[in-house]
Amino acid sequence: MSNLNVVIAKDYEELSKKAAEYIASSINAVPNGVYGFATGGTPVGTYKALVDLYKEGKVDFSKITTFNLDEYYPILKSNENSYDYFMKENLFNHVNVDLSRINLPNGEAKDPALECVEYEKKIVEAGGIDMQLLGIGTNGHIGFNEPSDCFSSSTQLISLTQSTIEANKRYFESEEQVPKQAITMGIKTIMLVRKILILISGSSKAKIAKEFLKGSITPKVPASVLQMHSDVTVILDKEASAEL
Ligand code: F6R
Repeated sequence: MSNLNVVIAKDYEELSKKAAEYIASSINAVPNGVYGFATGGTPVGTYKALVDLYKEGKVDFSKITTFNLDEYYPILKSNENSYDYFMKENLFNHVNVDLSRINLPNGEAKDPALECVEYEKKIVEAGGIDMQLLGIGTNGHIGFNEPSDCFSSSTQLISLTQSTIEANKRYFESEEQVPKQAITMGIKTIMLVRKILILISGSSKAKIAKEFLKGSITPKVPASVLQMHSDVTVILDKEASAEL
């Protein structure tokens, strides 16, 4: 299984605790580091466990800088489905992070192409990302880098595939309300991160977990590129590991 460090947790709760401990110990090792966060259903338990660790005095967010992987486009920050809103609700409002050092792609940007260039520049100016949390789509996407004929490079505006719109419509009132585009860090941006933690939970991810971990490296399964990264930890729960 290449050089990926694979950890199998007995259930979602254990996966969340292990992930939170990994992130907290990364922050404790580099308290003024740059940390990349993800959204979606999978990391919700991880953020809850991280807030608990914060309340127990086991991690201090006061000096970190953050960059999120992606954001829908266009979307208002005040929209409850925006990733800006998600991060505040699930993590930032509950810990002592400095809100002036939080970065997400701006779903309200007038010029999304310029926003992508500036987002990438901000990551470089911050010295790159020390640790990035990732989830995986049932189609193998990481961030919103959808299956394609070639791996993407830096932060860009992409069109969501129908399967991603289907998977994410559960959060919206109707499918029509799901934005059809998103701004996402590119595969190259993600590969430049120093260390990566990717979480895979539930039986609906068992098939893609196998393709990601045991299949060949192909842009048809964007996550498979991580097999070439030198520091990746994968935490799966039992259900997601069923086909390994
Ligand atoms: C979220 C993101 C996506 C999700 C993926 C899995 O910031 O970039 O790649 O990680 O769609 O989503 P869930 O966890 O909802 O299954």
